[in-house]
Amino acid sequence: MITEADINILFNPETIQKEIKELGKKLNQEYGNEILYLICVLKGSVMFLVDLSKHLKMPLRMEFIRLSSYGSDFTSSGRVNAVDISLPDLNGKNVLIIEDIIDTGHTAKFLIDFIKHNFKTKSLKFCSLLDKKIKREVEIDPDYYGFEIDDKFLVGYGLDYDGYYRNLPYIGYVETKEAE
Ligand code: IMP
Ligand code: MG
Repeated sequence: MITEADINILFNPETIQKEIKELGKKLNQEYGNEILYLICVLKGSVMFLVDLSKHLKMPLRMEFIRLSSYGSDFTSSGRVNAVDISLPDLNGKNVLIIEDIIDTGHTAKFLIDFIKHNFKTKSLKFCSLLDKKIKREVEIDPDYYGFEIDDKFLVGYGLDYDGYYRNLPYIGYVETKEAE
């Protein structure tokens, strides 16, 4: 188990909010006044969705799905579980997937393939607050991301360790043997 004393702050709340505001501006430019469907991948992306959506000016719908991929405490299993992936009809819609972090990329690929297989969307893009590029196992790049990060295990602002610390207002990294 870890305690809050093991967490080193990487991005404070002000830094996070500033970056999200910038992302919001870019998305407003991209979509203009077109209807946008935001697909929030629970649970980790919930804080990001809430704060990002407040900057968006187009008419938008919010959909929530639940996927899980993490096997052990600090490592991505590479296998994606669709816990709840019920979605409305996305044919002909602009769809933007909202993720907290892309790590190996398996979750992103699974979801993009799932949507492509089931719908002919007008557009399909991916927006992740964090991008752990160095850990990528499948070829995939987010269309939008906030911060690129090293190979560290992060918690806070939606990200969890064993279900905890999602409520921290900052993003921090945990120094552990397993995380190295
Ligand atoms: P991927 O399938 O390996 O790209 O992993 C994506 C998912 O794993 C993310 O949506 C997160 O929920 C989780 N994840 C990846 N890295 C971290 C981390 O450093 N801390 C907490 N969760 C993470
Ligand atoms: Mg996630």
